[in-house]
Amino acid sequence: MNNIYLDNAATTSVDPEVLKEMLPYFSKKYGNPMSIHSFGQESLEAVDRARNQAADFLNCKPDEIIFTSGATESNNLAIKGFIKSYYFGLKKNSPKENPHIITSAFEHHCVMESIKFLEKSGQAEVTYLPVYKDGVVRIEDIKNSIKPNTALVSIMYVNNEIGTVQPIAEIGEIIREHHSQFSNPKSKILFHTDATQAVNYFDCDVEKLNVDLLSLSGHKIYGPKGVGLLYVRKGTPISRIQDGGEQEFKMRSGTHNVPGIVGLGFAIKKAQDAKNKIQEIINLRNYFIEKVLKEIPGSHLNGSKEKRSPNNINFRFDNAEGESLVLALDQEGIAASTGSACSSGTLEPSHVLLALGLKPEQCHGSLRLTPGRETTRKEIDCAIDKLKEVVKRLRDISGSVLEEFN
Ligand SMILES: Cc1ncc(COP(=O)(O)O)c(C=O)c1O
Repeated sequence: MNNIYLDNAATTSVDPEVLKEMLPYFSKKYGNPMSIHSFGQESLEAVDRARNQAADFLNCKPDEIIFTSGATESNNLAIKGFIKSYYFGLKKNSPKENPHIITSAFEHHCVMESIKFLEKSGQAEVTYLPVYKDGVVRIEDIKNSIKPNTALVSIMYVNNEIGTVQPIAEIGEIIREHHSQFSNPKSKILFHTDATQAVNYFDCDVEKLNVDLLSLSGHKIYGPKGVGLLYVRKGTPISRIQDGGEQEFKMRSGTHNVPGIVGLGFAIKKAQDAKNKIQEIINLRNYFIEKVLKEIPGSHLNGSKEKRSPNNINFRFDNAEGESLVLALDQEGIAASTGSACSSGTLEPSHVLLALGLKPEQCHGSLRLTPGRETTRKEIDCAIDKLKEVVKRLRDISGSVLEEFN
């Protein structure tokens, strides 16, 4: 059997139809969309088409979309851009206290580090909400954390490591209720969600979710790498964080990545059409989880089984270390991961698993498998068989090492 790719949360392949849409914009239609000649205007039309495709999906206006280099940049822009604008506003309206940000303890590093930077540099006060054993934020905790100086709530839609789904629409509703308590629009609490892992499977209608800012990325949805977007609700006070030209409504300087933007727009459109594949992926995921829990003793599912993304399987195994499992599976032709691709390669226990209340030694034993649109039942069966072998082999080795030391 060919290699089996079960790491679609790290990145996906580019859909062949998406690639076909992109190709002319590399070497035939290569004008700069900011140029007024026809080469430029042809590219501008393509960027506008992609903007409309994204706006259709998010149920927003095209000029509420800002194209970026990916979700990392979108998240930085949402969080730091808002705080920058907050301080500009305060200068005009006489300074009060530091803005308060509410976030969860298991956001992606790009959200977490952006917020920690603001906290450490004295620009914001932060509450990190617990996510409990099931990996889900509680509405009550959100309500109880809101203070008079709360300015921003940032909660991810689907966690990238354990795939747990957060009640974004309900959180949005709570935050909106708080909007109405303030007469000054500057005092509105803003709601940001990182929807990077949600686009393939969940409704991202910004009206239903009640969000003001939403980030997503091309390469998680069968589109290209190096491109993403930030939805910014009209009237949301954010400032650009990168200075230069006037692209993207003066919010994101830098020449447009036209092929990337074309690919992102088309991938978003295709993600809507591919929703009929979701049940198949859920069936594969459930089959995998049930079989492993039954057939591999000492295996545990991380995070809620029910409030879980259709494509996320995340286990920990007693006496088998995650990184070793990934390497051993790779030798068998199976691509998996220990958690987020960005943090693998570090020896630090995963902050996501620590947030579930696991002990550091338990956090090193986890394995993430994320099937995708192309995954077959045959591949899943083969992956389960290989996983059983590999876990047993690693346990045998660690058992014999322990014996030698005793
Ligand atoms: C939840 C989440 N947010 C943000 C990112 C960063 O996305 P990008 O690679 O487009 O910068 C990722 C990618 O791993 C992710 O899973």
